[in-house]
Amino acid sequence: MIPARLRMGYWKRRWRERRDPALAWLTGANRRFRKNHPSDGDMWDDLWTNRRRLIQELAPGKSFLDLGGMYGIVGEMAFLAEQAGATRVVLFDGMDPSDEFDEKHRRNESRLRYIQGDLHDADHIASLGQFDIVWCAGVIYHSPNPLQQLMHLRHVTRERLLLGTHVIPEVPGIEQACVLYPGISAEMQATYAHVHGGAERFPGMAGPFDTTPLLAYANMWWGISPSALRSMMHYSGFEVTDEYLYSPFWIDLVVRPGGQSTDIYPALGLVRERARQRFADTPRDRLPTWADVEGDEIRSP
Ligand SMILES: C[S@@+](CC[C@H](N)C(=O)[O-])C[C@H]1O[C@@H](n2cnc3c(N)ncnc32)[C@H](O)[C@@H]1O
Repeated sequence: MIPARLRMGYWKRRWRERRDPALAWLTGANRRFRKNHPSDGDMWDDLWTNRRRLIQELAPGKSFLDLGGMYGIVGEMAFLAEQAGATRVVLFDGMDPSDEFDEKHRRNESRLRYIQGDLHDADHIASLGQFDIVWCAGVIYHSPNPLQQLMHLRHVTRERLLLGTHVIPEVPGIEQACVLYPGISAEMQATYAHVHGGAERFPGMAGPFDTTPLLAYANMWWGISPSALRSMMHYSGFEVTDEYLYSPFWIDLVVRPGGQSTDIYPALGLVRERARQRFADTPRDRLPTWADVEGDEIRSP
């Protein structure tokens, strides 16, 4: 084996990394990962093999929600859960159902139901009810509000959530770092594109932010480090039971309800109601001078 230092391009790469600390951070994480996890296999094969195994183990006899399984895989994991013996299967996604999905559904004589909706939509999520097993991959980094999405996932999860996401490597010396992608420079985008093999798959991170109306969620919004993700899980009411890091950039967590009790969060409308109650029985002439009264109406609170 030829020593790294004598290999073609080694010194050119090292010189580039010295000039670009972000590149050094990302490629250094890649190098360390490969050194600590030597593997001949393809990362994507490992990832999908592991996901299929988890679903085949967890789905039999359980209700199953695939949240975000339309694009690219056309409900494959939802159909797999059904074939593995899930009692009720729902695929929930923001996209229009594709012809391919329609065809697959008929071919499989599937009982799976498709619900088109947005994971940000608290009312729609509340109406979904709970599922024993929830699978959600490739979704939270597409949102400006990933924590809100995790809290919505907590509402629908009874036993286990399998959460897959793109991550950033830990940032040396900074606990629980996250990167906000929209607004980064073209140079920084080029660095991400270099590490991720091109700009196309990751608008907003490795290429220009897509400003097409209604397509904000096609972009990458947050680069979340594994330590930040664990903490986000904790504070959205989950406890991590298993973790699979396939590369410095892709992780799957298996989590169950636990962690921080979500009763620390005031329900929406609660503080408004509290303020309304405070003034409900107060005669008008006893209201404080700052009360926002117009005619007979106390507008705020
Ligand atoms: C990158 S694809 C991931 C597909 C698949 N889960 C996988 O891991 O390969 C993201 C999927 O999530 C859906 N999605 C993204 N944001 C969503 C949201 N806020 N509500 C519902 N679905 C969403 C997209 O429509 C798309 O089908």
